[in-house]
Amino acid sequence: MTYEKAQAVLKQHKQSHLLRFWDRLDAEARAALLRQVAALDFASIGRMQAMLQSPQAAAAATGQISPARVVELDAAARTRAVARGEEELRAGRVGVVLVAGGQGSRLGFEGPKGAYPIGPISQAVLFHFHVRKVLALGRRHGVTIPLYIMVSDANHATTRACFEAHNWFGMPPADVFFFEQGMWPALDAQGQIILDAPGHLFQSPDGHGGTLSALDASGALADMSKRRLQTIFYFQVDNPMVEVADPTFLGVHLLEQAEISLKVCAKRDPQEGLGVVVERDGRCAMVEYSELTNEQKNQRTADGELYFKYGSVAIHVFSFAFLQQEARAALPLHVAHKKVPVCQDDGKTVTPSKPNGYKFEKFIFDVLPDAKKVVNLAFDRCEEFSPVKNATGDDSPDTTRRDLSAKWARWLKAVGVAVPDDAQGYPLVPVEIDPCFALDPADLVVRLRQRPDVSQPVLLAEK
Ligand code: UD1
Repeated sequence: MTYEKAQAVLKQHKQSHLLRFWDRLDAEARAALLRQVAALDFASIGRMQAMLQSPQAAAAATGQISPARVVELDAAARTRAVARGEEELRAGRVGVVLVAGGQGSRLGFEGPKGAYPIGPISQAVLFHFHVRKVLALGRRHGVTIPLYIMVSDANHATTRACFEAHNWFGMPPADVFFFEQGMWPALDAQGQIILDAPGHLFQSPDGHGGTLSALDASGALADMSKRRLQTIFYFQVDNPMVEVADPTFLGVHLLEQAEISLKVCAKRDPQEGLGVVVERDGRCAMVEYSELTNEQKNQRTADGELYFKYGSVAIHVFSFAFLQQEARAALPLHVAHKKVPVCQDDGKTVTPSKPNGYKFEKFIFDVLPDAKKVVNLAFDRCEEFSPVKNATGDDSPDTTRRDLSAKWARWLKAVGVAVPDDAQGYPLVPVEIDPCFALDPADLVVRLRQRPDVSQPVLLAEK
């Protein structure tokens, strides 16, 4: 884009202030600024401005909500689902999408969140567990399961470097597809795009709803199509307990002919930060925890249960056709009022003490109302969900390592190894099992040549 073109486009959209430091910029900074301007998505920016002017009109849907239907499987239904899911895996029709574009700001970790060391003994990073589950599952079924990882401009290079440093965790690089999500500018209260330096627009990732358009724009959807994938498992980087491409979940989704399925679990307490699954106007939808009122969070049924009891842990299955259909959908916007660094007239950057800017995001679960059929599958959270979100307290590295260790200790117990517990029921020594050593207790029966010494930390990994 030339300077003249940028001038014209910005004038048309009343954003000419973005070029006000042009005379002070060197050639490199000018080129970088023009690149940012060229990438601006004015259709979305127009929607953001409309939302600031009339928050009520532009906000996400507001109809009456009630809890969504949730499926619990009995033993027979589970067996049928596993058989169907395994058939899909064996046919090589399953792909995996991992969203890892966010910034671990709550965790206070500098690198990409997937590079956070979480192995209770090995200190292996989050990516290690995710990637090796994909690898082990592919080996088990004699197929390649491609892994699509969403990163952002802020963490693409460091994420790739983490994979290189760990020899791609054993996965063939040709089957790992990184794709970058979009970046959006922040607006001030007048709808003006914020500069955070004389030649630079402040930008942040467009939310995991950006997965859809980014899959399309990056060629990942085309790659899925070339590989003839039909069923796409989706999850977040922060939860190393996830059962990646769990055949039961894939099977339920396929048997029910759903377009999207969600794993849901009972919320730990009314304030837990999980979106809840609801029904609105006869369609399934999700209400994010930050958008649920306190009254709704605390509402109870006659028997004392939370009325909106089931939270989504952001583990989904999509049918490929539905992903394609939604790739260009204009998802609703969600806004947050934040402290955004801003470039003053003297060219200096200041971070204000009070929120001064609006950041916008899209959420993947806003596709739910578009789906003809949705399945919400209940699961036992102690087996599959313990995310790393905060530096301390609930959902922190300490609780995740504890829960991982407890899960793997249960596997050892299931195959007859007596692992001593503490008073709270957690194993006295840490236990860690590499997914390529065993994906479940059935693998352990085959792989365990001798009983481990459970008076020491137990680390079972491929030699
Ligand atoms: C998220 C969900 C919440 C769910 C909970 C389960 C949202 C808005 N809410 O909450 O409904 O119950 O997880 O753990 O997501 N990400 C990107 N790009 C982005 C933003 C996020 O890739 O632009 C990825 C992150 O890397 C992470 C995931 O999305 O893997 C979740 O993001 P985060 O902001 O941590 O969501 P939560 O508030 O924890």
